[in-house]
Amino acid sequence: MFNKLSFNSDILFQMASQLHNSATPAYTLAEGCPQKDPASSFSINKPGGGSLLLLQDTQLIEKLAHFARERIPERVVHASAAGAFGEFEVTHDITDLTSAAFLSEVGKKTPFLVRISTVGPERGSADTVRDVRGWAMKLKTDEGNQDWVFNDIPVFFVRDPIKFPSVNRSHKRHPRTHLPDSTMFWDFHNNNQESIHALMCLFSDRGTPASLRNIDAFGGHTYKFTKTDGTFHYVKIHFKTNHGIKNFTDAEATRIAGENPNHNVQDLFENIEKGDFPSWTAYLQDMTPEQAESYKWNIFDMTKVWPHKDFPLRPFGKIVFNKNPQNYFADIEQASFSPSTMVPGIEPSADPMLQARMFSYPDAARYRLGVNYQQLPTNCPVSPVYSPMQRDGAANFRGNYGPDPNYVRSSLRSMTYAAGNVSHDEWAGKAASYSSEVTDDDFVQATALWAVLGTQPGQQENFVSNVAGHLKSAIPQVQEKTIEMFSRVDEGLGKLIAKAL
Ligand code: HEM
Repeated sequence: MFNKLSFNSDILFQMASQLHNSATPAYTLAEGCPQKDPASSFSINKPGGGSLLLLQDTQLIEKLAHFARERIPERVVHASAAGAFGEFEVTHDITDLTSAAFLSEVGKKTPFLVRISTVGPERGSADTVRDVRGWAMKLKTDEGNQDWVFNDIPVFFVRDPIKFPSVNRSHKRHPRTHLPDSTMFWDFHNNNQESIHALMCLFSDRGTPASLRNIDAFGGHTYKFTKTDGTFHYVKIHFKTNHGIKNFTDAEATRIAGENPNHNVQDLFENIEKGDFPSWTAYLQDMTPEQAESYKWNIFDMTKVWPHKDFPLRPFGKIVFNKNPQNYFADIEQASFSPSTMVPGIEPSADPMLQARMFSYPDAARYRLGVNYQQLPTNCPVSPVYSPMQRDGAANFRGNYGPDPNYVRSSLRSMTYAAGNVSHDEWAGKAASYSSEVTDDDFVQATALWAVLGTQPGQQENFVSNVAGHLKSAIPQVQEKTIEMFSRVDEGLGKLIAKAL
């Protein structure tokens, strides 16, 4: 018989921490057997000096063998990050849009874990470099985990998921030289120009944030907020920093990357440690299915935003980071986030990128952390788990459901079930018919962003110099095509970049 407690891995960890917490813990092997001081190996001293080690020295062998295995694969993207814990609080009623329990009441608070990353560079690399920042958040709600896996720009580079590995490879290292390569970077974007809007964001000074406390985060995708009565709205979610956007210039970001490659990690850690808790306001934009069918942009196209004048921002929550990880590896490196982790009341839309991501993240976690990654304390929900059709596998430490039926429809032990996803006959709608061709439409929002940069002193100049600084090492034929691409945003912009090269 399994009760709520037997599925809570915290109990095992409480047992372990009782030992840790005593003032002078008794040192043991990992099996719990008391051991001698680990500062020296067992050896037989030979007369006249020298010593022979013994194969029976389990402690020595374990220390060496475990050390050689203490790295796990790093994330193929978003490898380098900072992390924190915090609290999400509902500030405005949105029960007209969703029946999600954690959003059901103003004042309701939900604890979360968050990981903010750069995308392209490897684990531990300089964190002020020009890049998108990822924002992965696991809210531990009463109805299971809700993951929000966002970026700090509102759009993405591509809208067909088959291009995702390509865009990332072009931003990483060249397969031959093992160097970042501006030719392949721009060659990819010149030939996949639906990325223009995201490029405009990346090469503005927002590509080099001055701290992780001064960035916004965006869901990017269209999600569905659903209600038990079968109705739904499309939503886009945005988190806006309460401390204002602050960016480095390209020159500052480059200098700091050399002086302190961990600038952003350190800034976040130290501010949380001294009680200066960063906070964000959560907003959403909502759209009815009928509006979606006739809207001028395809709402499942991740390269487009919904202009605020058409769909105003509606506040609904407050996010505060209030605690640092106790152990980076256990809390943050072993964390796994996925857009597929959703509570009742939040559902995917027909956005093809979102659909692909819902496969890709759990797949990555199974590879990176093992098939039972959801049982790791940092990933484990605070609500009870009962999933007896999913058992066994490496590193299973959650009771494993004993004799309970491991097949569906058993009459031996009854279960209750959620009502199931609301059935939406036309859940995809006509808006899901989809074309990846690049047209002039793809440049409209990029041109609008160029105009916005023109309203902020120095921002257009910085943009030109940021692009030119990156592009100047590309081969001439790629440079020419990139200039053509930016001329489609604004003819003057193309000329300015050509002049700055
Ligand atoms: C088809 C498109 C995409 C695919 C296939 C994809 C795939 C992946 C994979 C495989 C990882 C590594 C996961 C791990 O090892 O645990 C990852 C990380 C991440 N991705 Fe994506 N991604 C896509 C698009 C996006 C978009 C559009 C966003 C934001 C709106 C995003 C945000 C993130 C973040 C924040 C992480 C880091 C998660 C963490 O901290 O563990 N990705 N992505």
